[in-house]
Amino acid sequence: MAEFQPFEHFGTDAIHVGQEPEKWKSMAVVPPISMATTFKQHGPGEHAGYEYSRSGNPTRDCLEECLAKLENAKYGLVFASGLAATNTITFLLKNGDHILAMDDLYGGTNRMFRRCTSQMGIDITMVNCTDIEKVESSIKPNTKMVWIETPTNPMMKLVDIASVVKVVRAKAPMDCFVVVDNTFMSSYFQRPLDHGADLVFHSMTKYMNGHSDVVMGCICTNRDDLKERLFFLQYAIGAVPSPFDCFLANRGLKTLHIRMREHMKNGLAVAKFLEENSRVEKVIHPGLPSHPQHELAKRQMRGYSGMVSFYIKGGREQSSIFLKTLKIFTLAESLGGFESLAELPSVMTHASVPPDQRDKLGISDSLIRLSVGIEDVQDLIDDLDIALKAAIPEE
Ligand SMILES: Cc1ncc(COP(=O)(O)O)c(C=O)c1O
Repeated sequence: MAEFQPFEHFGTDAIHVGQEPEKWKSMAVVPPISMATTFKQHGPGEHAGYEYSRSGNPTRDCLEECLAKLENAKYGLVFASGLAATNTITFLLKNGDHILAMDDLYGGTNRMFRRCTSQMGIDITMVNCTDIEKVESSIKPNTKMVWIETPTNPMMKLVDIASVVKVVRAKAPMDCFVVVDNTFMSSYFQRPLDHGADLVFHSMTKYMNGHSDVVMGCICTNRDDLKERLFFLQYAIGAVPSPFDCFLANRGLKTLHIRMREHMKNGLAVAKFLEENSRVEKVIHPGLPSHPQHELAKRQMRGYSGMVSFYIKGGREQSSIFLKTLKIFTLAESLGGFESLAELPSVMTHASVPPDQRDKLGISDSLIRLSVGIEDVQDLIDDLDIALKAAIPEE
């Protein structure tokens, strides 16, 4: 396995950027939770930087500053959920515009584009963006946003960010921007802006917060024009997170580098165990040499998270028994927390994807998605082993 080099100073930045004690009269080492909804003004329009908490909040500012640094961005903005951030981004578009999106996306993003964004007169095309020629041929004169996920949820396909950016710059209108959903990697393993993307998005609910106790989204960018528009939309639309959640997410970031290293170790160990198991049809993990884009993974990413998808032999009955037998892995939606989770995308996270699109993508009833946590790895492997044997007694 390739030895990945972490981004320089990552742990130091995660712990210190935006957290300077000198910001506060009290010199608090941990940023205080500023719950005030409004701030006293010296005179009408003369304030000390804050007016009303929807348009700006001291605790939120600490988090946004830290996040921007971790994505090697100038600006970070946080929202009440990942989808609230996605929805805010769609307000950069207008009636008559076109979105080109990856076909394999988180089910909720797919649903928003198809059932909500399309209602605003915005046209959507979803294609396999691993095929750069397909991306190129799908760009239209009115394509204003290209939205990709890499690795994708749940099929773990990788999109070559730099190549997508290159064809977009060459073929799309000047004002078309590229967004990368970086949720599966976190800022510790992948920095899409360094590959030329305009916006990077996270469901902070996942690895970035990492403790399964906050729903939040974020957008980071280096572009002054997009930041100005998004900053306006953040307060104009108002999908902002609470200061308490900002405090928790900021605290989560402090251990992101340590957590991700453990997720990577455990994820790879689980993927290798499954790949050698006769009750498993196929394992999909970008760190395995069997992954068709393993070389791209080594080039574009700085490591792997704890996400593993695999096909169990058999069908719905076997996947059901397997998932119900697990004891340490919890049968639940979501991912990226310290605890291990398992789920069946076809009936859980991706149930809203139309059945024909699910079939085309390979999201069948035997596809299981694991979010491998940071428990003791042997306990996790034993848990999977017992559940596989319960699902398929004879092999
Ligand atoms: C890859 C990805 N993007 C976006 C989202 C949406 O984020 P949220 O649930 O925080 O709204 C999710 C949620 O599962 C996700 O997995």
